[in-house]
Amino acid sequence: MNKDLIVLGIESSCDDTSAAILRGSTVLSNIIANQSIHEQYGGVVPELASRAHQQNIIPVVDSAIKKAKIKKSDINLIAYTKGPGLLGSLLVGSSFAKSLALGLDIPLVSVNHMKAHILAHFIDHKEQKKPNFPFLCLTVSGGHTQIVVVKDFNDMEMIGTTLDDAAGEAFDKSAKVLGLRYPGGPLIDKYAKNGNINAFTFGKPKIEGLNFSFSGLKTSILNKINSSLMTDPNFIDKNLNNLCASIQHSIISILLEKINKAITKTKIKNIAIAGGVSANSYLRSELKKLATNKNLEIYIPKFEFCTDNAAMIAIAGKYKFSNNEFADYSESASARLTF
Ligand code: KG4
Ligand code: ZN
Repeated sequence: MNKDLIVLGIESSCDDTSAAILRGSTVLSNIIANQSIHEQYGGVVPELASRAHQQNIIPVVDSAIKKAKIKKSDINLIAYTKGPGLLGSLLVGSSFAKSLALGLDIPLVSVNHMKAHILAHFIDHKEQKKPNFPFLCLTVSGGHTQIVVVKDFNDMEMIGTTLDDAAGEAFDKSAKVLGLRYPGGPLIDKYAKNGNINAFTFGKPKIEGLNFSFSGLKTSILNKINSSLMTDPNFIDKNLNNLCASIQHSIISILLEKINKAITKTKIKNIAIAGGVSANSYLRSELKKLATNKNLEIYIPKFEFCTDNAAMIAIAGKYKFSNNEFADYSESASARLTF
């Protein structure tokens, strides 16, 4: 049954409206509508995000069904993002998913967005190998930074998290100070390729254990840039590549230090990364070096499954369905859904 199960996944937790159709674990379509409206504000404006989801949701679901070359009546299950995320955005996806499931008279499952980022590793794709259990997953996105022990599809334990900003936020906020548009992570990644990682040094957080903190680093970057601009108004233009390389190196070093600690603590040698920041080329190359040095097995998701997408929601929904964990229609979207 599960091999041929047709799942519609719906994702609307932040600023991407996405719908995907999976047959079993194979993606038939994965449509994502980005919201460029936020670029001019340097970050996501929640009210504008929910309005854009309202406009996008029907055309996006419609294209996902058409691209998959199926009929609406072929869908066996609908999976939607329950949280965490922006409440107004989540409500658009969850209300739509509930109405469609009711209309089609098919089962509905609600999915935790952060768990879905991890389960994206189990989508069938020739360029993606599936992790063996147990594995450690470093989930790094615009809203979260977590280290998770994944024991099974539906059995995960978070062993480290951020105490303030997320890693993606550290990228985006630094980019904003550099005058780069939102989201800044991919731009910092791009400019860093031609820069020197040791050109500038910034304050390192001193957090015990497996938790993270990025707010001190953000302040240190801000102070360095503001004081340099006072003596040279062209400081950023002259040093953009070096600034990006040094900022990226600082953020990624914090992530790698903690993943190293987690490996020592848990003795788990299967390591995966997930979430938008896992698209970062420096994180990917440093992790590959670490894998060689420490004899680790590493799992890096295909680029299109790193940032927010509905294929990951559909696959996570499929595993909840196998566990008979269905959503209740009275269940509400939850901005702060816990792990
Ligand atoms: O998972 P995601 O798409 O959305 C959330 O759930 O937050 O992650 C978005 C985050 C943004 O902060 C973005 O700047 C960051 O992922 N990001 C990157 C890269 N691509 C996306 N950060 C660093 N390097 C990248 N190449
Ligand atoms: Zn995400």
